[in-house]
Amino acid sequence: HNHIDHATPEKVRAAIEAGDTHAHVPPYEDLAAYRAKGGYGPLLRCRAGEVSPEEARDRVLASGLRGLGGAGFPAGKKFDFVRLAEGPKYLCVNGDEGEPGTFKDRYYLERVPHLFLEGMLLTAWGVGADRCYIYMRDEYPAVLEILRREIAALEAEGLAAPGFIELRRGAGAYICGEESAMIESIEGKRGLPRHRPPYVAQVGLFGRPTLVHNVETLHWIAHIAHEGPEILSGVEKNGRSGLRSYSVSGRVAKPGVYLLPAGSTITDIIAAAGGMAEGHSFMAYQPGGPSSGLLPASMDDIPLDFDTLQPHGTFIGSAAVVVLSDQDSAREAALNMLRFFEDESCGQCTPCRVGCEKAVKLMQAERWDQPLLEELCTAMADASICGLGQAAPNPIRLVMKHFGHEI
Ligand code: NAI
Ligand code: SF4
Repeated sequence: HNHIDHATPEKVRAAIEAGDTHAHVPPYEDLAAYRAKGGYGPLLRCRAGEVSPEEARDRVLASGLRGLGGAGFPAGKKFDFVRLAEGPKYLCVNGDEGEPGTFKDRYYLERVPHLFLEGMLLTAWGVGADRCYIYMRDEYPAVLEILRREIAALEAEGLAAPGFIELRRGAGAYICGEESAMIESIEGKRGLPRHRPPYVAQVGLFGRPTLVHNVETLHWIAHIAHEGPEILSGVEKNGRSGLRSYSVSGRVAKPGVYLLPAGSTITDIIAAAGGMAEGHSFMAYQPGGPSSGLLPASMDDIPLDFDTLQPHGTFIGSAAVVVLSDQDSAREAALNMLRFFEDESCGQCTPCRVGCEKAVKLMQAERWDQPLLEELCTAMADASICGLGQAAPNPIRLVMKHFGHEI
């Protein structure tokens, strides 16, 4: 939906100079509407000293909130890493929602941006951040426009000091969603992931302790401040607690973002999305982005949550669920995933740069050389610097395990 894709560079330059953002801004809840229903009350109470940072942290811990960018690191635990550090420190928001099939951050930002903004300001207060950087993908022009307007409104109402929130535009590189590559990019350098340790909580933006959170994690921090930890901890299903925003696409009747209990299975998710699209029968699914690979339809009773998929060689990640049907091919889908990784590899380390390219070649053979592919997968998973190269073998391994008849 981005007009820039179809315009010539001259047209784009002229449009930008004329102040045209190319953004079709949908109706959303602005600052006045959000404040009218009590928005920013918790932030003002925290700033007035009615709540201590430790109390706020304990509420987040009690909710069980985990990092919703995909890794699921306990959100409350991250606070202290940065809160207790001396000297300048920063909060960086990862809005570079690049995982194919993931569109939940955009969904919330285009509707209720102030839940995110209040969650961000609460978190910045909690850890004593000197500044907040929002790294937002440029492919979301409406979101950028909404944030520009609403940050200006927060400054005008004295809820954020001028310059306290900096909005940065990503430039379309998937790897810049990796937290240390994002930090390099904010610093004005090429987005190459750093080795860790040290973690960004110790050595992050401009070498300072940095708290990095995904947009949706901060959105839920505002919910917790308004409604209490029970909004998450009070939801139980299949032995799991909390809520998950599943981005559902593929062969379902109604693709979209579905907020469901974290213990939901693919059967529940397809039902929420209106069932299968007409003429399609369920064959396979991607549980959480291409790096999570594919599972067969027979594995339809696993709660799709953090920790539950690891025993099956995969993970929920950012909950980007793509449903495939009898009209699709698991082998073609996995090849498409590896082509994506080949394109998006930053090229910094050999196992990933050469491994993705080699995998694409091997996966195009009529019969897969499975021992050779497994050897390649091991090298990539063991020796790549960052998550991209480490997880890229997942689709290959899962196709070899569950879709042997296709290869
Ligand atoms: P990770 O588990 O390595 O780290 C998660 C977070 O915890 C990071 O902020 C890290 O700095 C922090 N952390 C971990 N251990 C720590 C320690 N000992 N001390 C201090 N901090 C620590 O995972 P990573 O690589 O950040 O994220 C991988 C996930 O990202 C995957 O699950 C993938 O699904 C997801 N992803 C999401 C995308 C999206 O568009 N939302 C795009 C691409 C990947
Ligand atoms: Fe770059 Fe891939 Fe190495 Fe990550 S694993 S640092 S994306 S080459």
